[in-house]
Amino acid sequence: MITKDLAMAVKALTDHQIIALPTETVYGLAGNAYSETAIAKIFALKQRPLYNPLIVHLKSPEFLPLVAREIPQMALELAKEFWPGPLTLVLKKQSIIPDIVTAGKDTVAVRVPNHPMALALLNQLEFPLAAPSANPFGSISPTTAEHVFHYFSEELSVILDGGTCERGIESTIIGFENNRPVIYRLGSLSRAQIENKVGKLQSDTKADAAPKAPGMLSRHYAPSTPMYLTDEIEKLVQKFSNKKIGLLMFKKLIPGISVENQEVLSPSGDLKEAAKNLYAAMHRLDKLGLDLIIAGRLPDEGIGKTLNDKLERATKK
Ligand code: TXA
Ligand code: MG
Repeated sequence: MITKDLAMAVKALTDHQIIALPTETVYGLAGNAYSETAIAKIFALKQRPLYNPLIVHLKSPEFLPLVAREIPQMALELAKEFWPGPLTLVLKKQSIIPDIVTAGKDTVAVRVPNHPMALALLNQLEFPLAAPSANPFGSISPTTAEHVFHYFSEELSVILDGGTCERGIESTIIGFENNRPVIYRLGSLSRAQIENKVGKLQSDTKADAAPKAPGMLSRHYAPSTPMYLTDEIEKLVQKFSNKKIGLLMFKKLIPGISVENQEVLSPSGDLKEAAKNLYAAMHRLDKLGLDLIIAGRLPDEGIGKTLNDKLERATKK
């Protein structure tokens, strides 16, 4: 059920059950990060392959040494700047983190979420929470409690309702190789925001065969309706004029297509607002029984790059 009752969540988590919780990025499917039983339930419910590791959520940066070791200075600087917030750091793991959480890797992904309800919950627990996004593997991430309910109403006894996620896009994932920072997944924090702090980032976001961060698997974040991404909306609309089309637009509606079948991400052209609205817009269009959804490419700057990346992956066949 959807609830704001933290005590119910604490009880379930302490009993090795899993729950859904809000974060500032997307909703997570959370369990005790120290409990193999709980973590196995997350993988089963998400139908997530066991090779795809989870992010561990801490109540505060000071607990980082409990789960990670040999933490580079640069990681500490990033944590100081961006936690709580949408930054995930991949660090050498401590043995207290079960192998199932990290898919057998020697590294663990960690972040401190910036959401009052998530932090209030973590503060009542003796353990951190492992939490992937609360969607079946490969489908659109949830940004409201209702999205989670739509996916898992039967299976989850506690879906904590913390409103609409402020960021709307997953955290940015940074690792360290040979003492150099590497970006594994584009996310809510732009590359420039991180480079301002630690200098040039190497990229490893295209490793498809053995992805470092399988959020970067080529097809991901996908609606069940076929989706296209284009710079030339009008042309595609023409081409599919005999089909039931949905449109995902940045700033403006397009005349000639029913308003009900269109989503505008930010009338004022604000990319942050577009990020907050993107997944909710995809969820809504996906439920309309359309033949296809056409998305207009966003300006390829700042977080716009992240949004285009998510759209690319949603449209891969
Ligand atoms: O914003 C977020 O990060 C949300 C909220 C709930 O915190 N969580 C999220 O989790 O997006 P998930 O499971 O959907 O994506 C986690 C990503 C995956 O791409 C996974 O491959 C990567 O983190 N990851 C986890 N552990 C890793 C590791 N040790 N090395 C590299 N990538 C890792
Ligand atoms: Mg995910």
